[in-house]
Amino acid sequence: MQFQDRISQELDELRRLDRFRILPDITARNGKHIAVNGQFLLNLSSNDYLGLGDDREMLAGYAEEFSERQYAMTSSSSRLLTGNHPLYDQLETALARLYGREAALVFNSGYHANIGIIPALSGRHDLVLSDRKNHASIIDGMKIAEAPYQRYRHLDYDHLEELLERAAGRYRQIFIVTESVFSMDGDLADLSRLVALKEKYGALLIVDEAHGVGVFGERGLGLCETAGVVQQIDIITGTFGKALASTGAYAVMSSLVREYLINTMRSFIFTTALPPAILGWSQLTLERQVTMQRERQALLQLASRLRCELIAQSLDVPGESHIVPVITGSNALAVALAARLRDAGFLCLPVRPPTVPEKSARIRISLRSTLRWEDIEPIVGLIGGITGS
Ligand SMILES: Cc1ncc(COP(=O)(O)O)c(C=O)c1O
Repeated sequence: MQFQDRISQELDELRRLDRFRILPDITARNGKHIAVNGQFLLNLSSNDYLGLGDDREMLAGYAEEFSERQYAMTSSSSRLLTGNHPLYDQLETALARLYGREAALVFNSGYHANIGIIPALSGRHDLVLSDRKNHASIIDGMKIAEAPYQRYRHLDYDHLEELLERAAGRYRQIFIVTESVFSMDGDLADLSRLVALKEKYGALLIVDEAHGVGVFGERGLGLCETAGVVQQIDIITGTFGKALASTGAYAVMSSLVREYLINTMRSFIFTTALPPAILGWSQLTLERQVTMQRERQALLQLASRLRCELIAQSLDVPGESHIVPVITGSNALAVALAARLRDAGFLCLPVRPPTVPEKSARIRISLRSTLRWEDIEPIVGLIGGITGS
C-alpha cells in the first residue's frame, strides 16, 4: 500500500474510534476564561494551577525588567556552547536552595527531562521499575534507554516489592520511577512507602512532580514536601510549564549526578538552551509560588468539594487532588459530555486511549486557585445529567 493511502486509512480508523484529534483554535485567554473556536468558555482544562500565567501585575512588572535588562529572546546555542546565560546559574542556585539539595539542573521541558534522565543514568545491566500509569514522556525515556524496564501495577507497592525482590542481586542498579500526582487520575503516589522500598533494596528513586509543584507542600515543592521526603528522593523533577506558568523544567539532585547528566544526557546536550527571557520569568514565578500557601489550600478545598458532589451522584471520580477526572468508560460518552459542557460554557476536555487505558475514557477537570465554587457548581448537574446518574 502507498504511504499516503496507509496513513489516510489509519486516520479514518482513529475517526471511527472517536480518537481523532484536531488542534483547537484558541484566540484569547483571559483570567478564568478562554476563547476556543469562537466561544468564550470557563477554562477547566488549564495546568496553570495558581493562575500565575494571567497575573497582569506580575506580567507588567516583568515586562519592565525584561526591557530594562534587554533579555534576549533566544540563547542561539546549546548550554555547553554559548547558551549558558547567568540566569541559568541564578535559577539553579535558587532551586537547590529551596529544596535544600546540593544541586539543580534546568532543562528545556519536562519532556526533555524525562526522555533524557533515565537513558543517561542507566545501562543494559540495570533495571527500571515504573508505575503503569506514568506519563508518556517517562515511557519514551524508558524506550530510549538501554536498560530493560518493567511496569508495576498502578500504586501497587506490594507488586513493586515483588518485582524488587525478584530483581535483587541480578542487576547493577535498579531505578524506581513514578509521578507524584498522576496527571490523568489525579491520585497520589505514596512517596514515604517508595522511599522505604528504595532504601530496603538499594534502588534509586526518581519522582516526577510535574503536577505536584505549586499545589502541594508548605512552599509548593510538591508531594515530596508534604510527605517530608525531599532529602530521601534521589532525583525530583518539576516542570515550569504548569503551576509555574512558564516554560522548561528542572531536577534537583546531588552535585555528582548533575555533573554526570551535563556530560551524558543527550536531550540536555543536543538542544538549544532556553532564552534568557524565559529564565527570568521562571525565576519570578518560582519565587512567587513559594508564598502562595493560601491559594494552594483554596485550590485543594475546591477540588475536594467538587469531588464529593460528583461522587454523591454515583459518578466514578478517582483521585484526591486538584485534577478531577470523571470516568465515562466509552470514548463517545466522554466526547458527548465535553460537548455538552462546552455548550453550557465550560471547557473540560475529553481524554481517550491511548492517553489513558482502553475503556477508561474520561473528562478531566483541572482546577485552579482563582476559581470559586459558584464558577463551577453548574457542572455537577450537567455531568450527572448526561451520565444518567
Ligand atoms: C507527569 C508529566 N511529566 C512531564 C510532562 C511534560 O512536561 P512539559 O510539558 O514541561 O514537557 C507532563 C505534561 O506535559 C506531565 O504530565
